[in-house]
Amino acid sequence: MLKMTKNIIKITAILGFAAISLSSCSKENPPLVYFPDMYYPVAYDPLMKAEDAYSTHENEIPAFVKNNGATGLGPVNGTVVHDKDGVADVAANDRMTPDQYNAGYDESKTITASPLNPANQAADIERGKGLYDKTCAACHGTGGDGQGPIVVCGAYSGVPKFADREITVGSVHYVLTNGRNAMGSYAGQLTPGDRWRVAMYVMSAFKGGIAPAAPAVASASVTTSPQK
Ligand code: HEC
Repeated sequence: MLKMTKNIIKITAILGFAAISLSSCSKENPPLVYFPDMYYPVAYDPLMKAEDAYSTHENEIPAFVKNNGATGLGPVNGTVVHDKDGVADVAANDRMTPDQYNAGYDESKTITASPLNPANQAADIERGKGLYDKTCAACHGTGGDGQGPIVVCGAYSGVPKFADREITVGSVHYVLTNGRNAMGSYAGQLTPGDRWRVAMYVMSAFKGGIAPAAPAVASASVTTSPQK
C-alpha cells in the first residue's frame, strides 16, 4: 500500500512537470533558447545589411556598424594592392597568340639547364619535390604517372604521364609559366625560381635526370666539349 502511494506521488510529479513544461511553450511566453545562433543561422549574403536573424535588434558587430550595417567590407588595413598602377603583366598566355605560344614552347625545349646556381642543385630539387607534391601531385600523381587522386576518383582526366612526353627542364618551366591546353599557368602560385625548382624535380624524378630524355646529344656534347 505504501509502495503504491509512492508510485502515485511519482507519477503525479512527472505529469505535473510535463504539464508545466508544455504550458510554457505558448507564443506569448516563448521558451528560452540557449545559443540562438545555433538554432537560427546568421548567414550574411555579400553586401546585405547585417541584421540579427532572430530579432529586430540591429547588428552590433563593430566592423559592420562602421559600414552602416553593410557586410561588404573594404580590404583589411595594410593589404597590399596587387596592381595599383595597372601595369602588371597579364598572364603570358593571355597576351600571346597561338603562334607566339608555340614558338616560345619550341624554344623552351632547347633549354636543358635551369638558370639557378648549379651549386644548389640538390637543395633546389628537394624544394621542388615539396612543391610538386603539394601543387602538382593531385593531378600528376606523386609518381608522375598522371594518376593523381582527382584523376583516379574520376573528377578530372587527360593528365599525361611525364614518361610519355618529350619535355626538358625549360619546357616544364614554360608550361608552368604559361599553361598548356587543359593545364593552367602556375605563375600565380609559384615564384619564377620555384618554377625552375619544380621543373628540375620533374626532370630528375620522372625523366631520368636534369638533362632531357630526347635531345640528350646536345647536353652530352656540352659536357664533353674541351674546356677553353
Ligand atoms: C588540375 C590538374 C593539373 C595540375 C594540378 C597540374 N597539371 Fe600538369 N597537366 C595537366 C594536364 C591536363 C596536362 C596535359 C596538357 C596537354 O598537353 O594537353 C598537363 C601537362 C603537363 C606537362 C606536359 C606538358 C608538355 O609539354 O607536354 C607537364 C610537364 C606538367 N603538366 C607539369 C605540371 C607541374 C610541374 C604541375 C605543378 C606545378 C602541374 N603540371 C600541375 C593537369 C594538371
